[in-house]
Amino acid sequence: MDKLRITGGRRLEGAVEISGAKNAALPIMCAALLSDEPLVLERVPRLMDVATMAKLLGRMGVEVDAGGNGVELRARRIADPTAPYDLVKTMRASVLVLGPLLARCGRAKVSLPGGCAIGARPVDQHVKGLQAMGAEITVDHGYMHAEAKRLRGARIVMDLVTVTGTENLMMAAALAEGTTVLENAAREPEVVDLARCLAAMGARIEGAGTDVIRIEGVGSLSGARHRVMPDRIETGTYLAAAAAAGGKVKATGAAPESLDATLEKLREAGAILRVSQDEIEIEAEGRPKPVNVRTAPYPGFATDMQAQFMALATIARGTALITETIFENRFMHALELQRLGANISIHGNSALVRGVERLQAATVMATDLRASASLVIAALVAEGTTQIERIYHLDRGYEAIEKKLSGLGARVERVK
Ligand code: EPZ
Repeated sequence: MDKLRITGGRRLEGAVEISGAKNAALPIMCAALLSDEPLVLERVPRLMDVATMAKLLGRMGVEVDAGGNGVELRARRIADPTAPYDLVKTMRASVLVLGPLLARCGRAKVSLPGGCAIGARPVDQHVKGLQAMGAEITVDHGYMHAEAKRLRGARIVMDLVTVTGTENLMMAAALAEGTTVLENAAREPEVVDLARCLAAMGARIEGAGTDVIRIEGVGSLSGARHRVMPDRIETGTYLAAAAAAGGKVKATGAAPESLDATLEKLREAGAILRVSQDEIEIEAEGRPKPVNVRTAPYPGFATDMQAQFMALATIARGTALITETIFENRFMHALELQRLGANISIHGNSALVRGVERLQAATVMATDLRASASLVIAALVAEGTTQIERIYHLDRGYEAIEKKLSGLGARVERVK
């Protein structure tokens, strides 16, 4: 397994080009199942998860052509509406094929995703919503078996805010008979990007980005061309790295309006931010101020930025309280950060982080995607050379990370 070796103590200077958003690209690739015409996608990030999704769709009979930084998909017909365990266990987002398969061919066999490092992550809201639309779903030997002659529009009140739950139901509703109203829907920008792509395919959707989304079912959807939105979490990660290491970094090709909560917290940490239409420049000197964060559904502070801000807090001039309200076990990075000398105490879903002068390099292990990002940030400020193991977690969500970090002056090398 690959490792990253990072020598800390250097400022970050320069520009970093932001890639397309992983969490927009994945549902949008599944939208290709809804039409027999080509869906041409631009600014698709070159990531492990995107490759896994391409493989999964390919196995179903979707033609997938991943060229430069685009992907063309065409589901002329669906030979096998199955998402097998061996792929689903490596990427939970595979559950996003369930709604489109039911809408397109009336049946689907999707492995239950199982838990993951950050929590149980059930899919009961996906199932409940599809059942409300007339699907028969049974669970047998670890698989969901779903059938639906024709999905009917329904009014669905989600018990909790779920991003992929909202996306699955929005895609199913696009081809259902009649109107579907999703209440308590997720408002994440990636939901809005998916809605834009569906609309380009001929879907009738109103309210994406608010907590009530109305979808008027249509008979069929056409192909489309769609440019995936920039990745707001990748953007926030590089900005947090600059706030921790100090320096002057410009994120280009970004969507500043999609990460307001993160920008606000970076200002609170003492960084100077200059924001234009598609660029964010950050300037930071010395140790950051301590910043309390509490994760929440969008537009609140993103849970996917929590680990990165914990890394920032480890060297802050004071004590910070970090509260995780979305997932029940998303503090795995704290244990690894402690190996680097961080002073963190966990109390339930809160972590108290007392800033220290310097972190000390050590060998640490990545446990999940964003935990890995927090270890990278900590390694950039630790004294000495830190080795991060199991970085396949990083490769799932960060395109060419060592190239982008080296481009900012960091001393990073990938060890096979
Ligand atoms: C999406 O996951 C993202 N993944 C996650 O990003 C992100 O952390 C999460 O949203 C929250 O913003 C993709 O978009 C591919 P949820 P998702 O359903 O949709 C519970 C990353 O780092 N829940 O919004 O799976 C669930 O257990 C990944 O890129 C139910 O109880 O998250 C969690 O506690 C990690 N029942 C909470 O809701 C359900 O049916 C939010 O989960 C669905 C969810």
